Amino acid sequence: MKQKIIAANWKMNKTLPEAVQLIEQVSDYIMTKRLRFMDENVLVVLALPYVYLYEALYITRNVPHLALAAQNCYTERKGAFTGEISAEMLQSIGTEYVIIGHSERRNYFQEDNETLLKKVDMALEYDLRPIFCVGEQLNERMEDRHFHVIQKQLKDSVFHLPETDFANVAIAYEPVWAIGTGKTASPIQADRMHQFIRSEIRNNYSEKTACNTSILYGGSCNAANARELFSKNDIDGGLIGGASLNAADFEKIIESLY
Ligand code: 13P
Repeated sequence: MKQKIIAANWKMNKTLPEAVQLIEQVSDYIMTKRLRFMDENVLVVLALPYVYLYEALYITRNVPHLALAAQNCYTERKGAFTGEISAEMLQSIGTEYVIIGHSERRNYFQEDNETLLKKVDMALEYDLRPIFCVGEQLNERMEDRHFHVIQKQLKDSVFHLPETDFANVAIAYEPVWAIGTGKTASPIQADRMHQFIRSEIRNNYSEKTACNTSILYGGSCNAANARELFSKNDIDGGLIGGASLNAADFEKIIESLY
C-alpha cells in the first residue's frame, strides 16, 4: 500500500521550549492512534529547524510512524562552508528525510534546478529521503505554463536518478501562489497536477514506481480543506506550513487522511 505522509514544515518558527512542547503533543497523539496509523500506512514527518533535530530525535525515539526531516542540506560533502549543514551530519544524528527545493529556497536563496540536483544526490548518498518540492508561480499558471514548469523541475533535478534511488523520493506539489497566502489550489486543480506528476513518473520510470511514489500537496492546507484535498486519488498527503505549528490543527489535518 502506498504510504500516506503528512509532513509538517515548521520553517523558521518556535523556540526550544515551544518546539519540545509541540513535538511531545504530536508524539502523544500518534501513540494514541498508532493502530490506525498502521492500518492506513500513515507516516508523520516533522521538518524542524536544524537546531532542534537532535533533541527531537531523543524525544521521539519510541514513537512509531513518525520521522524527522531537515528543511535543507548543503550541496557539498564537507569542508570550509561556514554556516552550512551536510547530508552526512544529518544522517549521523539519525534524520531520515530532507526537504529539497522548497520555493522559499528557490526564491530567497536562488537555488536553481542544478543546485537542487546536487542536493538530491547528496541526500541519497547519505540515505536521507528527499521530499522534493515543485510548484509554479502565479504568472506561470495564468500563462498556462504550469505543467511545463513542473515537468522541467522534475526532469532537471530528480529524473536523472536510477529507479531504485527515485523510489526513495517523495514529491510535494506546492503552487507558490498558494503558500502562506490562504489561497489553496482547488482539489480539482491540485489533483490534475498530481495526476500529471504521476504520469511523468510513469513515463520516466514505470507503472510500479508511479503507483508507489507519495505525492503530497502543500499550500494553505488546513484543517478545513484537508479532507477534500486528501479525498483525491492522487493526493497522498500534505506538506503543511502554518497549520502545523499548532497541535490541534495539525492533528485535525492528519485525521483528514482517514
Ligand atoms: P503554508 O501551509 O503555510 O501555506 O505553507 C506551505 C508550505 O510551504 C509547506 O512547505
